[in-house]
This record gives sequence, C-alpha cells and structure tokens, in this order.
Amino acid sequence: MAQMEMVEFGVEQGQMLQVLMRHCQTMKRQETRLRLATALLLTAFLATSLWLQFHSNTSTDSFAGAHTEALKAKKTHKRQSVHLEPKSKSSPEKQLLEWYWRNESPYLDNFNLKNATELHISKKGLYLINLKMSYRIAYGQCQDNTDKIMTLEVNVTQEHSNYEGERVILKGSESMLCSEYWLQSMTLSRPIMLEDNSSLRVRIKKDNFKFVSWSETTYLDVTYL
Ligand SMILES: *[C@@H]1O[C@H](CO)[C@@H](O)[C@H](O)[C@H]1NC(C)=O
Ligand SMILES: *[C@@H]1O[C@H](CO)[C@@H](O)[C@H](O)[C@H]1NC(C)=O
Ligand SMILES: *[C@@H]1O[C@H](CO)[C@@H](O)[C@H](O)[C@H]1NC(C)=O
Repeated sequence: MAQMEMVEFGVEQGQMLQVLMRHCQTMKRQETRLRLATALLLTAFLATSLWLQFHSNTSTDSFAGAHTEALKAKKTHKRQSVHLEPKSKSSPEKQLLEWYWRNESPYLDNFNLKNATELHISKKGLYLINLKMSYRIAYGQCQDNTDKIMTLEVNVTQEHSNYEGERVILKGSESMLCSEYWLQSMTLSRPIMLEDNSSLRVRIKKDNFKFVSWSETTYLDVTYL
C-alpha cells in the first residue's frame, strides 16, 4: 500500500514536474514571442522614423529646389514697364492717339514704339495694361450746348496675325457733362496674355479729341509681368 502510495506520489510528482516544465516552456515561448514582438515593434518604429526622416529630408530638398528654380526664373525674368504720354498732334481723323516714351528703362527689349500710334510687343507673355484718359472742358467749348451730356469713348486694341483686323481688348465709355472747366478722367486696367508681335493702339472718338488733356494726367502704362 505504502509502495503504491509512493508510486502514486512519484507519478504525481512526475506529472507535477511535467506540468511545471510545460508551464515553463510555454512561458519561455511566450517570452520569446514577446521578445520577438518587441523586436518587431522596435524595427517597425525605427523603419518608420527613418522613412519619416528621409521623407522630410527629400521634401525639404525638393522644396528648396523649387525655391531655387523660382529664384532663378525671377532673376532671368525682368519686369519691364513703359509709360507713354500722348502727343497733342494725335490724328483725330484716324481716331488714334500718338504717344512718346516717358521713361527709358534698360530692359525695354519687349517694347518698341517705331510708329507713334502703335506699341509693338515682341515677347509673348502676361501684360498689365493701364490707361488713364483725362478730359477737361475749356472756356467757350460748351457755350451753345450747356448741360448737354456727351459720351466719352476709348478702346485699346490689339493687332496680331491670329486675329482679323483689330481686336478690342479694353473698352471704356462714360458720360460727361459739357460744362465749362469740367474735369473728368477714366481709368481702364486689365492683365492680358499677349502673343509676340502684337501691336497695341488707343482709339478714341473723333469728337472727344478736343477735350483730351495733353498732359501727364493722360497716359498708357504697359507692364510685362
Ligand atoms: C503708322 O503706321 C500706319 C501703318 O501701319 C500708318 O498708316 C500711319 O500713318 C503711321 N503713323 C505714323 C505717325 O507714322
Ligand atoms: C515676329 O517678328 C519677327 C520679325 O519682325 C519674326 O522674326 C518672328 O518670326 C515673328 N514671330 C511670330 C510669332 O510671328
Ligand atoms: C470701341 O469698340 C466698340 C466695339 O467693341 C465699337 O463699337 C466702338 O465704336 C469702338 N470705339 C472707338 C472709339 O473706337
């Protein structure tokens, strides 16, 4: 009986040992799994941070690159601007205003004023056109028609081989009271894409000529943006 008990005890001990060993093994396995998982997590974290670092580096690099490119383009792209003032002997018959240069800039290769009535644009690009027309009514110009309303009309036209005839690119129309010493001005402004070899002209109504202020208050500014 005692032997049996001993055997049983031994068996129990053995079973206990087995259970313990199994437990230890599972624990070990779990531990290795845990270690593996930690290692994997660490690797993933490292990879992510490395990727992020690389990515941010490359993006700052490309940003810096684009910035340098923009700066280079800005350096080669010279903003040019002409300021034209009208000649009082402009030709009313053709309704055209004649101009002369007011400024002489060193970078005027985009503009040419061979013919006083035509501003030649040699380079294709975006231009800002700004026209200011000033009118004044002198003493005696409205004697027989007091409080008569007149119409002021002005167009900026573009001539180019792409278009038939002249194309109106800016148009202005205003009413003016015919009253002695009356002053009025009209400003037209527009950014526009112009083809190379375009010619710009300013046309006004024939009966408006005698009211134009032939001074610096009437001008045509064209800027290559
Ligand atoms: C400008 O050229 C046109 C023809 O393109 C001509 O009819 C006009 O008389 C010229 N004007 C001047 C001021 O030379
Ligand atoms: C512009 O005119 C110049 C000479 O006047 C000519 O060489 C050039 O081909 C012209 N360009 C276009 C697009 O018509
Ligand atoms: C301006 O252009 C319009 C057409 O858009 C035309 O009817 C008008 O007669 C022109 N005015 C002048 C002064 O050329």
